[in-house]
Amino acid sequence: MKRIVLLGPPGCGKGTQSRLLVEKKEYIQLSTGDLLRDETSKSNSELGKKVSLLMESGELVPDEIVINIIVNKVEEYKNKSVIFDGFPRNLNQAKVLDEALKNISLELDNVIFFEIDFKILKERIQNRIDQSGDLEQRKDDNIETLSNRIEVYKSSTLPIVEYYEEKGILSKINAMEKVENVNSEILKIIS
Ligand code: AP5
Repeated sequence: MKRIVLLGPPGCGKGTQSRLLVEKKEYIQLSTGDLLRDETSKSNSELGKKVSLLMESGELVPDEIVINIIVNKVEEYKNKSVIFDGFPRNLNQAKVLDEALKNISLELDNVIFFEIDFKILKERIQNRIDQSGDLEQRKDDNIETLSNRIEVYKSSTLPIVEYYEEKGILSKINAMEKVENVNSEILKIIS
């Protein structure tokens, strides 16, 4: 059983690679973005509306909300291999995840850091918008919000790279390669 974090900016391919690991290796994908979208689509509460607005603007949702969702899942899937997709996103979340795993005698095996030029992210998100067709488009998928998502990533999320480097569990991959090549790199790291 492994626990792996996929770490990288919006649009770098975390979701795509998570889904491949679910198909090929039967991992459980824990995407905080998907879990939050699911929660807010079901809820009409003031809190749900506040969370939706934060997501639409590209800001992070408050830690206590995200942590509450993820810590329950960590316990639920303690006997499965798990990919954390989009979590943690700041140092506090990283420390809380370590603590939650430690409480059930587990730890992270690998943190995979997706390295990519920021200008490529715009192309990828634009492609996703163009290809969305009849599917409902994500409200944060527009170039203006993407710029904010990237700024938030740089200020809040990038600092945790050093945290995991110091722990000796960080591996960097070239996320500008084709999907299959990125996937091969990840499989090599986690095997
Ligand atoms: P979240 O849903 O996590 O979105 P994100 O991190 O912005 O990432 P994306 O889902 O847009 O991209 P991705 O890296 O998964 O790339 P994908 O595979 O889709 O978060 C959304 C919001 O939720 C946040 O802004 C925040 O408000 C909130 N939130 C979530 N987690 C939180 C947390 N922990 N704390 C606080 N708030 C949180 O690929 C993108 C496109 O590129 C696709 O079209 C894909 O087909 C294509 N593509 C993928 N790989 C390749 C490749 N190798 N070559 C060419 N194209 C590729």
